[in-house]
Amino acid sequence: MAEPMAVVGFDANAPLTPQQQPPQQLLLQQPPQALLERLKDYGQEDVFALWDELSHEERDLLVKDIESLDLSRVDRIIRCSLRSQGLPAAAIEPVPESCVSTLEERTLDERERWWKTGLKAISDGKLAVLLLSGGQGTRLGSSDPKGCFNIGLPSGKSLFQLQAERILRVQRLAAQAATDNSISSAPIHWYVMTSPFTDEATRNFFESQKYFGLEANQVTFFQQGTIPCISKDGRFVMETPYRVSKAPDGNGGVYAALRSSHLLEDMSSRGIKYIDCYGVDNALVRVADPTFLGYFIDKGVSAAAKVVRKAYPQEKVGVFVRRGKGGPLTVVEYSELDPSLASAINQVTGRLRFCWSNVCLHMFTLDFLNQVANGLEKDSIYHLAEKKIPSIHGQTMGLKMEQFIFDAFPYAPSTALFEILREEEFAPVKNANGSNFDTPDSARLLVLRLHARWVVAAGGFLTHSVPLYATGVEVSPLCSYAGENLEAICRGRTFHAPCEISF
Ligand code: UD1
Repeated sequence: MAEPMAVVGFDANAPLTPQQQPPQQLLLQQPPQALLERLKDYGQEDVFALWDELSHEERDLLVKDIESLDLSRVDRIIRCSLRSQGLPAAAIEPVPESCVSTLEERTLDERERWWKTGLKAISDGKLAVLLLSGGQGTRLGSSDPKGCFNIGLPSGKSLFQLQAERILRVQRLAAQAATDNSISSAPIHWYVMTSPFTDEATRNFFESQKYFGLEANQVTFFQQGTIPCISKDGRFVMETPYRVSKAPDGNGGVYAALRSSHLLEDMSSRGIKYIDCYGVDNALVRVADPTFLGYFIDKGVSAAAKVVRKAYPQEKVGVFVRRGKGGPLTVVEYSELDPSLASAINQVTGRLRFCWSNVCLHMFTLDFLNQVANGLEKDSIYHLAEKKIPSIHGQTMGLKMEQFIFDAFPYAPSTALFEILREEEFAPVKNANGSNFDTPDSARLLVLRLHARWVVAAGGFLTHSVPLYATGVEVSPLCSYAGENLEAICRGRTFHAPCEISF
């Protein structure tokens, strides 16, 4: 990568005054000189390589595309990220079990107390949920936003609908708890982050489905940013002769997007104090979980995450670690964890040393989000992922640059990890059916089996014409969030699996 050159008496970054603007005719005949100079500063002048072959309209599009980029910022990110690539990663240490709220150590009293604390905060309007839905879902093989995906449950509900109905159910539970104390309850605000690749389709889907029963004004969409895709030597990949190939800047782009769209102020004006931030592709995700919120409030930390025990060394999940002895909590993504560390065993417990898996479900205080929205932006080291990039030469291998949501954890003054049971809360939908794991089929089965257990525990009976391990029942989130409230509906009744149980 070329370092920017100093040009005496010429500020390459200054916008052109109207007098300096070349006449329109000239602009279309050759690349604007000032822009070309700036691109040369950053070694990116090749974007104009096919200029002579472009029509006037295409030249115009290319100039606008380049002008839309913050070249000095992008150059800083490219140089810092490429430079950091070859450096040895800082040593990592496992997170001690004592730093995690494990399932075994949790008492019934604590769970009840957290549930009530969480519901109270929700009815007071202090919780917002924030969905990360800007990913392109290429592994799933669908061009629609992942949340529109129907995993084949008897109801045919999409992931978005399952999440919306869980929000509705928690809202109702919070309202009921509040009514007991004769206070009214606030709706849970849902912030939905999209990207230019998912925005329009997501909004249209919500509208066509009438916001799944939520009020339209309790949903706010906002877009994350994009960043150019680059070759291994740091040059922009051209998607067409007149457009730079770009990709979303990773789910960590949420912090910059919240800041630039002034949503942190919006949250503050609504009285929101806690933000439950989660990935779209988990069919069992407990959105707005009162227990997790109550725990978070009880611990008084700035950032927390739900974790499950890693199932096997190669499982494609990030793991929570400490950077250095007693260092800050962070996540090492599966793509970045050395395979020998991934399979290292703790000789005392016989379990994996790095066993606390990230399920992409984080809780933050609004204060911390405000703090990190500025801090992370200054961090110019992005994760580089080698991916197929659409280019003028067809699909070509190149680098996508991303920030990750958990890159914020090392900035947190205090953190906590909360173990959950994977059978209850983690049904990832990552790969197309036919793959070996994390498919719509495997997620559907996890939902059906869990809900079958709820129904049986509530006194219901199941009949089935396929083996029970391959089927089950679906309980509408409008009836039950986590298995509660089912006795009146299920006791003594028989259900033929697969089917949906709703009101
Ligand atoms: C993610 C986690 C991984 C965790 C796993 C659990 C990250 C970076 N990685 O991996 O540690 O173990 O889930 O299932 O969080 N997204 C955006 N914008 C983007 C990219 C992604 O909003 O630019 C969203 C996706 O829509 C999805 C979530 O972030 O909701 C997770 O992204 P994805 O890229 O699918 O991460 P995984 O590789 O599954």
